[in-house]
Amino acid sequence: MMQEKIKELMDLRVQARSGGGAKRIDTQHAKGKFTARERIEMLLDEGSFEEFDMFVTHRCTDFGLEEQSYLSDGVVTGYGTIDGRLVYVFSQDFTIFGGSLSETYAQKICKVMEKAMKVGAPIIGINDSGGARIQEGVKSLGGYADIFQKNILASGLVPQISAIFGPCAGGAVYSPALTDFTIMTKGTSYMFVTGPKVVKTVTGEVVTDEELGGAMVHGAKSGVTHFVADDEKEGILLIRKILSYIPQNNLEDPPMVPCSDPINRLEDHLNSIIPDSPNKPYDVKDVIHAVTDEHEFLEIGRHYAPNIVIGFARFNGMSVGIVANQPNYLAGVLDINSSRKAARFVRFCDAFNIPIVTFVDVPGFLPGTAQEYGGIIIHGAKLLFAYGEATVPKVTVILRKAYGGAYDVMSSKHLRGDINYAWPTAEIAVMGPRGAIEVLFAKELAKIENAEERAKWLAEKEEEYKKKFATPYNAAKYGYIDDVIEPRNTRFRVIRALQSLATKKEVNPPKKHSNIPL
Ligand code: HXC
Repeated sequence: MMQEKIKELMDLRVQARSGGGAKRIDTQHAKGKFTARERIEMLLDEGSFEEFDMFVTHRCTDFGLEEQSYLSDGVVTGYGTIDGRLVYVFSQDFTIFGGSLSETYAQKICKVMEKAMKVGAPIIGINDSGGARIQEGVKSLGGYADIFQKNILASGLVPQISAIFGPCAGGAVYSPALTDFTIMTKGTSYMFVTGPKVVKTVTGEVVTDEELGGAMVHGAKSGVTHFVADDEKEGILLIRKILSYIPQNNLEDPPMVPCSDPINRLEDHLNSIIPDSPNKPYDVKDVIHAVTDEHEFLEIGRHYAPNIVIGFARFNGMSVGIVANQPNYLAGVLDINSSRKAARFVRFCDAFNIPIVTFVDVPGFLPGTAQEYGGIIIHGAKLLFAYGEATVPKVTVILRKAYGGAYDVMSSKHLRGDINYAWPTAEIAVMGPRGAIEVLFAKELAKIENAEERAKWLAEKEEEYKKKFATPYNAAKYGYIDDVIEPRNTRFRVIRALQSLATKKEVNPPKKHSNIPL
């Protein structure tokens, strides 16, 4: 009798694990996609997965659905470990009703989210779904909203990561949008609020899924996804890698990693990396790679707003978030997209106790009607607000230009930057020499008619201005810069700074929440 019961359990397990059946699994594989369970296997440490709610089925009796039911109902949920650390997961199963979301399916997701919040563990969602289960109507819509609500409550409490490995359309896109990091795969995933058919009906525009919401669209144009992976395996490795830099929840510190890279490693080439001409670019990622542990840097949002570079690295085993202006793209100017990109990252780091290291080389904010009409004032304020609100250790190194409002914004002393260094090549001033001279001496300039004389006069004045203002020493005179450091020694100085700040405590005034300009 007992043996029979055990056999029944085993049979049910086999049934649940077969999802929507062999044929649909084959179709999934033929599309270059893994199944929900295969993805979980790849993601978690071997043998660590514990599944919940395998026996859940939908409760719908409309449209003949009462005849059609699958164990687990289109989503696989549970917990396991990644590098030995607990995580909760849900993985949508496209082989069951196209992974569409039912009432009970939503309840399964909410259950793991609640548990993750209770114990303080990250939540990883793998999305591959046709959206709301059409036969369930408003129950499905309600299910989505229940998940959104949990995403919101979990935000800033435990890290949330979304992988998009298939369709993710309609309101379903808002769950990943509420999470901290999103990864999409090239060619097999797409996200949009309204699909190509509706777009054509409403606007007459003809677009494919890929053109409307493929991985590169969201990686480079909209910034909705932080990572574009070539395939699911790479996407899953990225999830594991992100987690290695971040803590389990907002009350913990990020994991320390043993470091064998000497902390006083000198990088001589940094002493000559800044070109003689102020208008010549260089790659700020060369600076980042030179100074971090093992030269490693996990870049986030690589294809979007490349005029700012953000990502995770380590200094002597300590996790940090790096923000750096990129002179190689648009001279590293701050604009709407780069401000938004960096602001959200600064807030993530602050929420999860990750110190922020900022490398500054910024000529200012991008001028023009496109930026002003697009609201650069509000969007630039986001980055300013995020830095000013952040209470984690903040270490800043000004490499070259720090002009105007952008000087203030980029983790300056005035926004509670803890340790602010500058290279001897730093130019900290209200504006660049040419602009400054043209404003200050407009009348004198107008009087010089001869072009050659005018150019000579301008050059002289510029030189004078440069000597006086385009240096770090004016700022250092006021204590706005704590020290001017030799570029090749940057790694050591940043590590010492971070070590000195390890026990930093800073608390903002109590309030319900701030009102960041959105
Ligand atoms: C129920 C669905 C479904 C859905 C797909 N299926 N989407 N069942 N509800 N939303 C089923 C199909 O009937 C099919 O069943 C199986 O899943 C696989 O679907 P196919 O169409 O054969 O697959 P494919 O050709 O790969 O196309 C995938 C797809 C397409 C692009 C996702 O299925 C599709 O367009 N589905 C509808 C998408 C949609 O409009 N959803 C509602 C969006 S609005 P069988 O039995 O044949 O295997 C929304 C609102 C959310 O989601 C609101 C939140 C606030």
